[in-house]
Amino acid sequence: MPRTPNERLIRVTVVPTTPPGGTWTSGDLTVTRFGYGAMQLAGSGVMGPPADRDGALAVLREAVDLGITHIDTSAAYGPFVTNQLIREALHPYSDGVHIVTKVGANRDEQGGWPPARQPDELRRQIEENLETLGLDVLDLVNLRLGDAAGPVAGSIAESFETLADLQRQGVIRHLGVSNATAEQVAEAQQIAPIVCVQNMYNLAHRHDDRLIDRLARENIAYVPFFPLGGFSPLQSSALSTVAARLNTTPMAVALAWLLQRSPNILLIPGTSSVAHLRENLAGAAIVLSAADLAALDGIAE
Ligand SMILES: NC(=O)c1ccc[n+]([C@@H]2O[C@H](COP(=O)([O-])OP(=O)(O)OC[C@H]3O[C@@H](n4cnc5c(N)ncnc54)[C@H](OP(=O)(O)O)[C@@H]3O)[C@@H](O)[C@H]2O)c1
Repeated sequence: MPRTPNERLIRVTVVPTTPPGGTWTSGDLTVTRFGYGAMQLAGSGVMGPPADRDGALAVLREAVDLGITHIDTSAAYGPFVTNQLIREALHPYSDGVHIVTKVGANRDEQGGWPPARQPDELRRQIEENLETLGLDVLDLVNLRLGDAAGPVAGSIAESFETLADLQRQGVIRHLGVSNATAEQVAEAQQIAPIVCVQNMYNLAHRHDDRLIDRLARENIAYVPFFPLGGFSPLQSSALSTVAARLNTTPMAVALAWLLQRSPNILLIPGTSSVAHLRENLAGAAIVLSAADLAALDGIAE
């Protein structure tokens, strides 16, 4: 049954006293280390509406009810679908809930992600995010670089200066980069302060180890996308063995490993299922032993 606007108004949110995974603070921005990635709430291939719209809205509401204050999205998801779901489920946003978005890519008819990083394209995407999320100011915007295969070297100055300009105008509070090389991270920092880097990283894919350590020293968050392996969720006998020993799921262990990897790692695992969301959140409470960590370290590609 769809909710009526009145039902939304009387909903009571009981926020747990212990934030999932603890919190991370950068300047005036504080989020739970355990967040939620909304990309896969859109339809197949991140295009069009979800198969289960009420289920998607329920996942978003449950995430906030469980105390999560960091929700990752983009107007490119759907396009617009994920942002519209977030707005319908959560607007007006509770105090302390931060919707983090990204710009830098369009969608084409085939579901591809062609780059859109010219100044006018970025300004248009900022407008689209503001409108679809129902916000006057965006808390944190990542400039998404590279392509679907990963980061691509090259100057990002013109694009990042455009976002820095929008930040000066008050439309964006904080900036980050995504799918970036270490050199592009450094180039962004020459233009304006960044609070996060969002790159692909998980138990099996650890190309950013040195970058994570550098960012930790600079109090900059590292937000791994595809923390569970993305479209092909992680599978490994070592992961399953550790999970069985701890009487939990492989996904919860994969997330616990990330939380333990470095204090500046923030999680945005995606799921379209309330049951998976709860299972995954159990990872925030797991403490992996040295033996568990050694077994899991062998998974890296
Ligand atoms: N900056 C970028 O370029 C970029 C790129 C990709 C993604 N992102 C962001 O990163 C976030 C995370 O990435 P992602 O969602 O694509 O990948 P992910 O978090 O690594 O994995 C999500 C997949 O894992 C499955 N899953 C989740 N929990 C599970 C569980 N307990 N048991 C079994 N399967 C489970 C989900 O299926 P179910 O729905 O069935 O649970 C979904 O297919 C995205 O939502 C997006 O916000 C950013």
